[in-house]
Amino acid sequence: MKKMKIAIDGPASAGKSTIAKKVAETLGYIYLDTGAMYRTLTYAALSNGTDLQNEEALSKLLKGISITFSTAGNESQRVFLNDEDVTESIRSEVVTQKVSLVSSFAKVREEMVARQKKIAHSGGVVMDGRDIGTVVLPDAEVKIFMTASAEERAQRRYKENLAKGMTTSLEELTEDMKLRDHLDSTRAISPLKKAEDAIVLDSTHLDIEEVVERILSIIKERL
Ligand code: C5P
Repeated sequence: MKKMKIAIDGPASAGKSTIAKKVAETLGYIYLDTGAMYRTLTYAALSNGTDLQNEEALSKLLKGISITFSTAGNESQRVFLNDEDVTESIRSEVVTQKVSLVSSFAKVREEMVARQKKIAHSGGVVMDGRDIGTVVLPDAEVKIFMTASAEERAQRRYKENLAKGMTTSLEELTEDMKLRDHLDSTRAISPLKKAEDAIVLDSTHLDIEEVVERILSIIKERL
């Protein structure tokens, strides 16, 4: 059967990664969380004191590090910076607050996109991010633009954080999320934007299984 490329884009906390993982698992495809790659670079820069405003320094840092994902099943996939497991560290508040700045630089994006294209080369991949349908995989057979109301997205993130023992207030989370979406959609290079041929899926009133079902049925139509 044809091994497709599936692009899932959308704003923060729209449920992209949960959905993308499940779709990939069902199809036996690779799942690639491109946000985790930008987060890992941000974490690396914060850890070694790289100036986050310095495009050259960030680009040099990125070229010297490897960002990999464990193959131990999509659900329990872990993220590595060289050989350090950074799965939890890249979700910290400080990384979340700084990642939009780090990801706004052309040289950083160029290198990330090249790595992502390489991974997707032979197809059989579900990728989620902000510029997948527009820049990384413009030839993807299926492009989904996932949205949900800002209130719903903040609530989801709040519940996720509580489960992890993080205590940021709902108000603070909402503000941070709005700021990140604003920065991601207004940056000069590859801003968050729906690809012309993407299908919009609003998950505000849908549960995870319903969204997965919808995407799988869209995929089946194109197989
Ligand atoms: O998906 P996640 O929320 O983990 O992404 C973290 C950040 O990484 C985004 O807010 C955005 O700044 C950046 N990003 C990006 N392009 C992608 C994926 C993520 O610029 N393809």
